[in-house]
Amino acid sequence: MLEDTEALVGRAIAEFNATADAVELERIKAQYLGKSGHLTMALKTLGKLPPDQRREAGARINSAKDRIESALAERRADIAGAALEARLAEESLDVTLPGRRRGGGGIHPVMRTWRRVEEIFGSIGFDVGDGPEIETDWYNFTALNNPLNHPARSMQDTFYVEDKDAGGLNLLLRTHTSPMQVRYARSHKPPIKVIVPGRTYRVDSDATHSPMFHQVEGLWIDENISFADLKGVYTDFLRRFFESDDLQVRFRPSYFPFTEPSAEIDMAFKSGPLKGRWLEISGAGQVHPDVVRNYGLDPERYIGFAFGSGLERLTMLRYGISDLRLFFEGDLRFLGQFN
Ligand code: DAH
Repeated sequence: MLEDTEALVGRAIAEFNATADAVELERIKAQYLGKSGHLTMALKTLGKLPPDQRREAGARINSAKDRIESALAERRADIAGAALEARLAEESLDVTLPGRRRGGGGIHPVMRTWRRVEEIFGSIGFDVGDGPEIETDWYNFTALNNPLNHPARSMQDTFYVEDKDAGGLNLLLRTHTSPMQVRYARSHKPPIKVIVPGRTYRVDSDATHSPMFHQVEGLWIDENISFADLKGVYTDFLRRFFESDDLQVRFRPSYFPFTEPSAEIDMAFKSGPLKGRWLEISGAGQVHPDVVRNYGLDPERYIGFAFGSGLERLTMLRYGISDLRLFFEGDLRFLGQFN
């Protein structure tokens, strides 16, 4: 009996150590410690021994069981450790590889212009207004001296919205930010000094026109705001926007139904690649008395100027971009250059 248990322990340990496989190890374990394993069987024979030998034999078998169990636990740990080592070696990280960077977002160049314009006009006391892109025919045209049959309407063909619930209002996508002159003036008390940047729409599409584009409207109305103020404010704006005093500005007579007199503002750089070329930058003028009346104000008392400039146009001139469509294609190679 004594030799048997000692031999059994030795055999078990040898068999444990001979395998490096966790499943195989458990199978070997069952041969010794399982329900019909060698040790379990040995314990069952105890009852057949004479009582005086039972105690000692029982102790031997239990000690053998303990040693086999601790050898098993050790071997289990060894095998698990080796498996971990193997995995670590296989999944080794190359810490010298450059890290993956987060894609840096950026602000769209037209939005940069938008913010710049707000900043510059904000610094000289202009409020920033905001209004609907789906506009009524009245605000977009009629209130601005553009009656139904006026030929100037055809210069601004737009997208009409069919809405049976609009209560007889003709809705359209606004063709310019000028309707905001009327909306803002009707909801604020003079002095009115505001810019309204926003999206505008026309049935137009080529290298310099997009069906959706951005404008900024400007309006300054008080009891004594003159064309000279327009010249001063707008010239100062251009100098600050282009960060250059080295530019010329001219006010060329033009026609808009909602201003009288009306002007096209042109500018020319005195240096750089565009040097000497007159570039059209904005429409402007002194607000027509009929339009002041549509503001709900007395034109005998209130007078001032308005302007409407294209944000894409300003952006193109600032960065020397020749095709406006680049702004709307979402090509990161183009957009990434502005950040
Ligand atoms: N709304 C005009 C356009 O889109 C631009 C314009 C001209 C705006 C003269 C004005 C203005 O406020 O006074 O072409």
